[in-house]
Amino acid sequence: MKAILFDRFGGTEVLREADIEVPQPGPGQVRVRVKAAGLNALDGKIRSGMLEAVRPTTFPAVPGGELAGVVDALGEGVSDVQVGDEVLGWSDTGSYAQYALATTVALKPAGLDWQHAVALPVAGETAERVLDLLGVAAGETVLMHGASGAVGTLAVQLATARGARVIATAGPANQDYLTSLGATATLYGEGLVERVRTLAPDSVDAVFDLAGKGALEDSITLRGGTERIVTIADFRAHQLGITFSSGGQERSAARLAALAEDAATGKLVTTVTAYPLDQAATAQQLSDAGHVRGKLALTLD
Ligand SMILES: NC(=O)c1ccc[n+]([C@@H]2O[C@H](COP(=O)([O-])OP(=O)(O)OC[C@H]3O[C@@H](n4cnc5c(N)ncnc54)[C@H](OP(=O)(O)O)[C@@H]3O)[C@@H](O)[C@H]2O)c1
Repeated sequence: MKAILFDRFGGTEVLREADIEVPQPGPGQVRVRVKAAGLNALDGKIRSGMLEAVRPTTFPAVPGGELAGVVDALGEGVSDVQVGDEVLGWSDTGSYAQYALATTVALKPAGLDWQHAVALPVAGETAERVLDLLGVAAGETVLMHGASGAVGTLAVQLATARGARVIATAGPANQDYLTSLGATATLYGEGLVERVRTLAPDSVDAVFDLAGKGALEDSITLRGGTERIVTIADFRAHQLGITFSSGGQERSAARLAALAEDAATGKLVTTVTAYPLDQAATAQQLSDAGHVRGKLALTLD
């Protein structure tokens, strides 16, 4: 099968197309003929080698942690999905490939296309996990740093659906986008504390840092301490006494199915830019640059 892989760390030039063996599903796994692969900032961090100490890579490595596609083989003990089912979920083997294995998948509603389906597993689970961890409730004000990306697009909508007010930061080009999602938009960078205090004179109840670009100190100032601040991207968190939330342990097919239903009916909006699989390097370059609006996806025939 065709796949994108890398066998050394580096920039996007290390990605190459190759013909590799189709993986065989083990117990509890399904094999999926991939129609769309989700591209995450994590893919570039793994490719560069920066996560090697905490997340070792075995070469050759096929990137991609999420997929949408058609089930084409079942491993032993799988009874909740059938061959031919259209699904979305997390991939156990890299999803930048024609076939990938998966353990946790949800059925894809007919009204949701492949590329919008693949915007949900990682970003949806992350947004819900952090909002739960922060205990965001109706009537509260949440500050989100860097909310115009894949996770932020969903986090803003899920927090407002809980009845919270969201103040969200992005660059100048994404102010209107954040407003369209339901947030009060403001710019990140110099003067942030004053801008947020003007927008929320009674202070913010919780802070969700999605960018990891140095806003933790401002967050502590705005919160008057380290309580109810969570980052998913700033590795200085522990040093500053702030919670860093990592994914991987709380994948739920039922919660993913509920998100997919909401996306299919238009209750939850996703914004996706898709590239064909053979342009994976171009897409990762964009992701590495860190200013993608919404989600990047790779599509396969
Ligand atoms: N720990 C976990 O469980 C977990 C899970 C998923 C993702 N992540 C991490 O979370 C981060 C967000 O991922 P993502 O896919 O949603 O989006 P992303 O592509 O990494 O971009 C996030 C947003 O950051 C904004 N940004 C850029 N420079 C900024 C700055 N100096 N200050 C504040 N915001 C800035 C961008 O806004 P503009 O374009 O408007 O500049 C962009 O929309 C990534 O680092 C990713 O690796 C962690």
